[in-house]
Amino acid sequence: MTREREGHEPWRVGVLFSRTGVTAVIEETQLRGTLLAIEEINAGGGINGRELVPIIYDPASDERNFARLADHLLTDDGVTMIFGCYTSSSRKAVLPIVERRNGLLWYPTLYEGFEYSPNIIYTGAAPNQNSVELADFLVGRYGPRFYLIGSDYIYPRESNRIMRELLRQRRGTVVGEHYLDLHARPSEFRLLMREVRRSAPDVIFSTVVGQATVYLYQAYAEAGFDTRVMPIASLTTSEAENALMGADVASGHITAAPYFEGLGNPNDTSFTARYHRRFGQDQHTNFCVEAAYFQIHVFAAALAEVNSMDPDVLRPVVLTTDFEAPQGHIAIDRESGHTNLWTRIGRARADGRFEVVRESGRPVRPDPYLVAH
Ligand code: ACM
Repeated sequence: MTREREGHEPWRVGVLFSRTGVTAVIEETQLRGTLLAIEEINAGGGINGRELVPIIYDPASDERNFARLADHLLTDDGVTMIFGCYTSSSRKAVLPIVERRNGLLWYPTLYEGFEYSPNIIYTGAAPNQNSVELADFLVGRYGPRFYLIGSDYIYPRESNRIMRELLRQRRGTVVGEHYLDLHARPSEFRLLMREVRRSAPDVIFSTVVGQATVYLYQAYAEAGFDTRVMPIASLTTSEAENALMGADVASGHITAAPYFEGLGNPNDTSFTARYHRRFGQDQHTNFCVEAAYFQIHVFAAALAEVNSMDPDVLRPVVLTTDFEAPQGHIAIDRESGHTNLWTRIGRARADGRFEVVRESGRPVRPDPYLVAH
């Protein structure tokens, strides 16, 4: 075996997104966003002349696999950077491992906030960047009575706790709250729709994730509810879930997120064109793809500057890095390790993409502990 020339070995990084299991529908798209950015960087000559090489494992939507594979990456594979995790339970499983081994996890997913780790860069939305504006919009447009439906794990329970508090501040009420297993079957959602009808809410706030999202929206459609009167509102239902449930089922429902495909700015137009060329004309980008994509570019910009994969050297530079992302200008927040992101509210159209009905017009500073609220 020939030894590579000193200084020309590739930069190796770990990638942990599920390609199988209940959240593969969205994690697979985060993997694509990651690979697209890596391929762009390598096509441009790599980072300081060195190629970026991902070591990719499939944790199969199981938090125990996330923990085991994160440890494997940081020890046996010898990497220091991991790009991955969708569910908050998988992030919570990886957190003590990156802290113990001093790795850096790049987490491209909206979550419930109330967390800080010097070993995580958070590039998805915190509650002040989606839930607060969404609560205002929904109460103003549809009314103050909310039915909360979630998958049964930490993100939905904590996100609903925040929504309940935001509603209380807006003189709203929670008329029902129900959690279903991540592996819940369609029949369970059909039964739940009877309970929803009895409670007569103005809005269903869904924190259901992954495959079960499809069953919730299909059960809603079968029950004959009207999205103009009582839509489902979510922080997680993206173009990917819409495609799986069928655009006709998704149409009219509401999602709050920093990004939707087709924003119309030049960055997004070229990003989506490259995504379509690489993965298929019928494949849509979404806000999880976009965060997975831009965080690789933020990482690459910081690495180009310090030329070191040591998290203690790289992280301080990451915390001063900004980037022209498809959603608009973003910057990592020095104080929290979260990201300045845009707030947008979208209504699903008949083609499964979103029409933006409200937007912040500028990046919103992350406030993961809702101190300002
Ligand atoms: C999530 O579990 N943070 C979507």
